[in-house]
Amino acid sequence: MILVTGGTGTLGAQVVDQLVARGHEVRALSRKARPERAAGAQWALGDLVTGEGIDAAVSGVDTIIHCASATAKQGTTDAKQATCLIEAARKAGTPRLIYISIVGIDEVPMPYYKRKVLVERLIEGSRLPHTILRATQFHDLPTMLFNAQKRLPVLMVPRARIQPIEVREVAARLVELAENPVDGRAEDIGGPEETTIEQLAEQYLAAQGRRKKIVGVPVPGRIGAAITEGKLLCPANATGKETYADYLARSA
Ligand SMILES: NC(=O)c1ccc[n+]([C@@H]2O[C@H](COP(=O)([O-])OP(=O)(O)OC[C@H]3O[C@@H](n4cnc5c(N)ncnc54)[C@H](OP(=O)(O)O)[C@@H]3O)[C@@H](O)[C@H]2O)c1
Repeated sequence: MILVTGGTGTLGAQVVDQLVARGHEVRALSRKARPERAAGAQWALGDLVTGEGIDAAVSGVDTIIHCASATAKQGTTDAKQATCLIEAARKAGTPRLIYISIVGIDEVPMPYYKRKVLVERLIEGSRLPHTILRATQFHDLPTMLFNAQKRLPVLMVPRARIQPIEVREVAARLVELAENPVDGRAEDIGGPEETTIEQLAEQYLAAQGRRKKIVGVPVPGRIGAAITEGKLLCPANATGKETYADYLARSA
């Protein structure tokens, strides 16, 4: 049995679907009731912050793919969530814990990334068999930023280098790691091309047949410097296939 935390999330939902399609016994954890699309998976209601439902969620699982994260709150509860999950997992046996992380988190000093570094450390110190996979930004991330400004006359975007990847390819890699585990850090995974968020914004507007001014906003300080140096990129591991243009065409 494989438990997927964050089974309703952008990544977790894809992981659940792909595991089910490959014939695995899957349990998805969420604080919400089971959505229609999760057919074929068991559903565990639970909250990794309060601990409610977590012992039951981990019972009988041999692998946990940890995709839950307080993304909307900059990961402020992520260490608490990881601690809760690790404690419950250790009571349940020695399941493998697979964690999805982000390329460059230890080099780009953003608050969310610092919290992910802490979660990596907790998992490394958990005494559970574990795998950590770092991926670059999903196509969905810049798209969310652009969609949020649909009604504004201009499109404001951070001036940043990026190597976006299709979330389904990251999910596929996590499924592969559940089937053929790697101990410790797996090879990073990144999208097929390096670009900038401004270039993605141009493609996004062109795909919608819309025109408006794109305003590139410099990212200040050490964070901006690290991003300019390419710390969010992994050019040696550009294993993703789908480009942002492919993603826009598919989502149209
Ligand atoms: N987005 C990117 O570009 C990117 C790139 C590389 C790695 N990652 C990593 O991939 C992971 C998933 O990202 P995502 O974009 O798929 O996130 P997301 O769509 O925001 O989903 C977050 C998930 O976390 C769950 N969650 C949050 N708080 C919880 C709690 N207290 N208890 C139980 N579940 C909780 C949510 O479940 P419910 O609300 O249903 O409870 C939801 O399913 C994160 O660790 C992120 O850092 C993201």
